[in-house]
Amino acid sequence: MDGSIGSPVVRRDAAAKASGAAQYAADFPHAGTAYAALTTSKVARGHIIRIDTEAAENVPGVQLVLTHRSLNESLGEETFAMKGGHMQSSFMPLTSDEVHYAGQIVALVIADTQEAAEEAARKISIDYATMHAAASMEDPDRKSEPMDDASIDKGDAEAAFAVAPVKIDATYFTPAQHHNPIELYATSAAWRDGKLLVNVPSQWVIGTQAGLAKIFGIPMADVHIESPFIGGGFGGKATILPHTVLIAMAARRLGRPVKLVVPREAMFTVGSFRPATISRVRLAAERDGTLTAVMHDQTGQSAVIDHVAFPVTEVTARMYAAPNIRTREATVATDVNTPGFMRAPAEAPGFFGFESAVDELAFALGMDPVALRLHNEPARDPVGDLAWSSRSLVACYRRAAELFGWSRRTAEIGSMKTPDGTLIGWGCATACYPSAMAPASARVRLSADGICVVSCAAHDLGTGAYTVLGQVAAEVLGVPNEMVRVHLGDSTLPSGPVAGGSITTGSAGSAVHLAALAVRARVLAAAGGPDGYRLADGQVIAPDGTGRPVAEVVGSATGGVIEATADWKPVSMSDDTMRQGLAGGMAFAGPITKTHVSYSFGAQFAEVRVDPLLRTVRVARMVGVFGCGRIINPRTARSNLLGGMVWGASSALLEETRLDRPRARFANTDLAGYHFSCNADIGEVIAETVDEHDDVVNPLGAKAVGEIGIVGMSAAIANAIHHATGIRVRKTPILVEDLLKG
Ligand code: MOS
Repeated sequence: MDGSIGSPVVRRDAAAKASGAAQYAADFPHAGTAYAALTTSKVARGHIIRIDTEAAENVPGVQLVLTHRSLNESLGEETFAMKGGHMQSSFMPLTSDEVHYAGQIVALVIADTQEAAEEAARKISIDYATMHAAASMEDPDRKSEPMDDASIDKGDAEAAFAVAPVKIDATYFTPAQHHNPIELYATSAAWRDGKLLVNVPSQWVIGTQAGLAKIFGIPMADVHIESPFIGGGFGGKATILPHTVLIAMAARRLGRPVKLVVPREAMFTVGSFRPATISRVRLAAERDGTLTAVMHDQTGQSAVIDHVAFPVTEVTARMYAAPNIRTREATVATDVNTPGFMRAPAEAPGFFGFESAVDELAFALGMDPVALRLHNEPARDPVGDLAWSSRSLVACYRRAAELFGWSRRTAEIGSMKTPDGTLIGWGCATACYPSAMAPASARVRLSADGICVVSCAAHDLGTGAYTVLGQVAAEVLGVPNEMVRVHLGDSTLPSGPVAGGSITTGSAGSAVHLAALAVRARVLAAAGGPDGYRLADGQVIAPDGTGRPVAEVVGSATGGVIEATADWKPVSMSDDTMRQGLAGGMAFAGPITKTHVSYSFGAQFAEVRVDPLLRTVRVARMVGVFGCGRIINPRTARSNLLGGMVWGASSALLEETRLDRPRARFANTDLAGYHFSCNADIGEVIAETVDEHDDVVNPLGAKAVGEIGIVGMSAAIANAIHHATGIRVRKTPILVEDLLKG
């Protein structure tokens, strides 16, 4: 039936978005709203020695100027999300005269109009006492701090490496990057009778609710977070941004609603970003390509104000069979705003280096890079000897190679050309993304008019959750898609998890599945079953084969409605952890449990065209084939994978937040200077999934889809560029100047 699991249902939010009916955070009208503007620090480190707000206060319409001198509000303790709290950073601006990073909020102006607020914000005059600041990991002032608990040691990798006949030892760099969702960060806050309503684009309404309740010292039930639509999040909207707290505070002080829309430039510093990484990868093999040692040392950029780490080596260590494995993780604290989640936070940068190194090894061996990977396919997790919940990497490579036409590749560097002499390069790389799970609660309600309503405080980032979660209920209840309504993105709904780590479909979907099963059982019971009764095509079918419309059966039930709420707990999770998760804590199970490793895998291929003289690179084709368990909706899954691959191409060739190192500032803080792919940069893109069955990960068998598309793409492109030019660029983005050498 249309709407059931596996059918390519069109997104149910599409018409609302295309017509402008969808309301984003900044669109919710509140009578009497005052408008906010930010003043941000021009220096990166030091303290404020003078701040003059008089001119700002004299701008007509200005209601409030908040600085560290006028804030004096006592707030409940709330921590950084990576320390168990809900905040994007443990640092709250305006709480002291200290400046920790360029672009830090140093004043907040609230006025009757946006224009007055902006004018006043510009009129605040500040003198700073400055100190040396380092925004780069490579500053000589900064030292790398090891994270010993992230190390993996199996066998003796150093010894195996020392004696191996073929080996690679290479170091790779990835830069800071910023998510730039088209919907800017925006917060509006309104208090009524001591209760707080916040409209904010959020990937975690329950976490935001819990965090703000703690900060303002009020019950969770008195905080309402509304975020039905999000105009792109990518991890940047997963936690509470400090300005949201300031806006709620200002609204309380003024006794009227306050709204802030963060301008594009400030998006680079009032939220999070993808930190830079350095990866040293050492691989050793026998001459036949059998890996004997895998070593990966990653160092990630962190912040002085918060320790942030995205260890990727836990994942890279599990890609290939090797008897000897050694990984290390470290961080370097820099004077920047707290880095955070950005699509495949660990994997996207980490796989660039790791999968480039695998290609380097193939080249050194004189072996086909696909054959090398297939030759080292591990039957079980090579680190812990655990079973895979499912792993279809070989099938992904076979299918992707076939779609791409890989067998027509000639291995020699520069051996493939178009008739006009343009160099053609073909490369590939493995992608992987862990499938963690989180507890979730969902409500499913069937009424006598045949309408099925699914409710969960999960989120649709533009990824298709509205559609997919509806399909899960439609499947169980035999209801057509157009009779299903889905409510998400509101903290008054049954608890949903953070929309991070690609967990929504598997986690919230499992809760919807359980709730729908409970509703089905009651429908069958109301019809005289359940034994021998079943649901099909909107009918309850009795054992004798006669049918009765579901709507009629529901109508005869008490109240004319059959409704159930169900909590889903990942198998390996304790009851306590589940309760914490449902109450707004960040609670994940997996991807590694006592028995299994649950990862999505993929094989990604790229064709580049390189101008032999100008050295410009075009990505002519990308092919990605992924094993992500059961695909609930092939259309929305494909869109996620395509989007990830396009972003991967951006990352390979264009994307970088550049540093003004002497001033320790991000330099290209707008969409003119921050480059990423537009339509003309992207050629043909094919994304497919393989049939994959996973009994372990969750009742739906659905693994991570949302982030894996980006993971292998930049390495595949770098590997293709090497194939075309013979130049191995060990950093992204790969620019024309990198290809003029040699
Ligand atoms: Mo995603 S970076 O886990 O929101």
